[in-house]
Amino acid sequence: MTIVTIPTQPFAGQQPGTSGLRKKVVVFQQPHYLENFVQALFDSLEGAAGQTLVLGGDGRFHNRAAVQTILRMAAAKGFGRVLVGRGGILSTPAVSCVIRKHRAYGGIVLSASHNPGGPEGDFGIKYNVGNGGPAPEKVTEAVHARTKELRSYRISDAAAPDFDRPGTATIEQTAVEVIDPVADYAALMREVFDFDAIRGLFARGFRVRCDAMSAVGGPYAKAILEGELGAPAGTVVNAEPLPDFGDLHPDPNPVNAEDLIAHMAAADAPDFGCATDGDADRNMIVGRNFPVAPSDSLALLAAHATVVPRYAKGLAGIARSMPTSTAADRVAQALGIPCFETPTGWKFFGNLLDAGRATLCGEESYGTGSDHVREKDGLWAILFWLNILAVRGGSVESLVRAHWAQYGRNYYSRHDYEAVDSAAANALMAELRAQLPGLAGQRLNERRVALADDFAYTDPVDGSTASRQGVRVIFEDGSRIVYRLSGTGTEGATLRVYLEMYEADPARQDVPTQTALAPLITAAGALARIEQHTGRATPSVVT
Ligand code: G1P
Ligand code: ZN
Repeated sequence: MTIVTIPTQPFAGQQPGTSGLRKKVVVFQQPHYLENFVQALFDSLEGAAGQTLVLGGDGRFHNRAAVQTILRMAAAKGFGRVLVGRGGILSTPAVSCVIRKHRAYGGIVLSASHNPGGPEGDFGIKYNVGNGGPAPEKVTEAVHARTKELRSYRISDAAAPDFDRPGTATIEQTAVEVIDPVADYAALMREVFDFDAIRGLFARGFRVRCDAMSAVGGPYAKAILEGELGAPAGTVVNAEPLPDFGDLHPDPNPVNAEDLIAHMAAADAPDFGCATDGDADRNMIVGRNFPVAPSDSLALLAAHATVVPRYAKGLAGIARSMPTSTAADRVAQALGIPCFETPTGWKFFGNLLDAGRATLCGEESYGTGSDHVREKDGLWAILFWLNILAVRGGSVESLVRAHWAQYGRNYYSRHDYEAVDSAAANALMAELRAQLPGLAGQRLNERRVALADDFAYTDPVDGSTASRQGVRVIFEDGSRIVYRLSGTGTEGATLRVYLEMYEADPARQDVPTQTALAPLITAAGALARIEQHTGRATPSVVT
């Protein structure tokens, strides 16, 4: 067994986006493509020799081949130990948990999150640092820079050890320890939540449907909900991770999880519906015929957090991404704690969590989390809701309506225009940006603009900055339109338009969301000339 140096040429475009490097599977299957990126990553890590690396993925197509390659390259890099999930399986929050618990140097997650899988689908790789969270931009930028100059990579010529059975093997000088993907994560959930209370809920006949969408959340949900908390067998559906996700699009929103929505609208609907995404960091919560908006979910979890043992003493602060609705801000204000507004992407929460300035964080894109790990966490959010329901009683709908009655309702929707021509999308954004200086004071469809800018962020902990994070138009009544281009898509460009309107009066909180937002939707289309630029009269996905 020797470590060999393989000559290679740089690939263009190995630039990590909002969450790691995501490309079509066929792109990753090109000889040297994955190896180049991993070598560029390893070259950017100082002092990793002898340390521990965590490795696992969401089980999608190409996961196993990538695990084998990375094990052989980790041996060449001289890691002391690699903790790999059995079968190459680890959810994103589990990787974060395992990195923290075992004080690993970092971890690699093989996932394209909620993007479709299978041979024609997407693959992805992301790197998490020692705090368990996504690599900050200074790391991802260094990796990208290195990919452009790489001329060779180093790999062991030995076969990767078997990773389907627990145990430890050695490749070169590196120990490869195959771990149970669920055990450390389940232990953490036991510490965070009141499992006895949730057991009581199930014992009283509370019915849950948890749709793992044939992705990696299945084993976790089954072990914890059915195995530990007493939910009846069959509570978790689509529980086995499949390489093509059984042709499901594992993105838990009402459009892609339509089967769950249909079950929750049926006459004999369960009390509580939930779903997780490809790598189990996202969650959707649905009551009986009542989908919960993710921004509302974050606000509601914050408002009831003290029922959960880990948060019993209260929250230090809340953080939300800029396009996420301001519902959480109202809770923070009532609690007398700060609410931080960050750019889109979980990596921006890391410093706030590490510094103890934020306890809960969330995004409108079905992501919620806390300082228990450094990733968003789908099953954690589901358990949080169950813990609240177990202690407070009532239904999902009654809790949300009570929340709106107390804090007001932030009507909210995101309109996505997927796979539009990149040049057209860039032109649309450029034209919007050019209009910004003159917008304040103007009326757009009856509302007067109070502020219009391109969101820029200065991290309050380390002073690092991020600019051009989305165009926001804020009206005098607090309503908002936000425009940004996706950083995770793999086809053309995706324009996201985020719409928000506040309604304090409970008598007016029951209007269908798209109706309530209609004037803002019209204004958003007209201001950005969406149809003229993209050729699309309507969005492809509305959540
Ligand atoms: C999307 C979401 C963002 C989330 C990211 C990773 O990124 O909008 O909130 O953090 O996926 O799950 P985008 O495609 O908008 O760049
Ligand atoms: Zn995900």
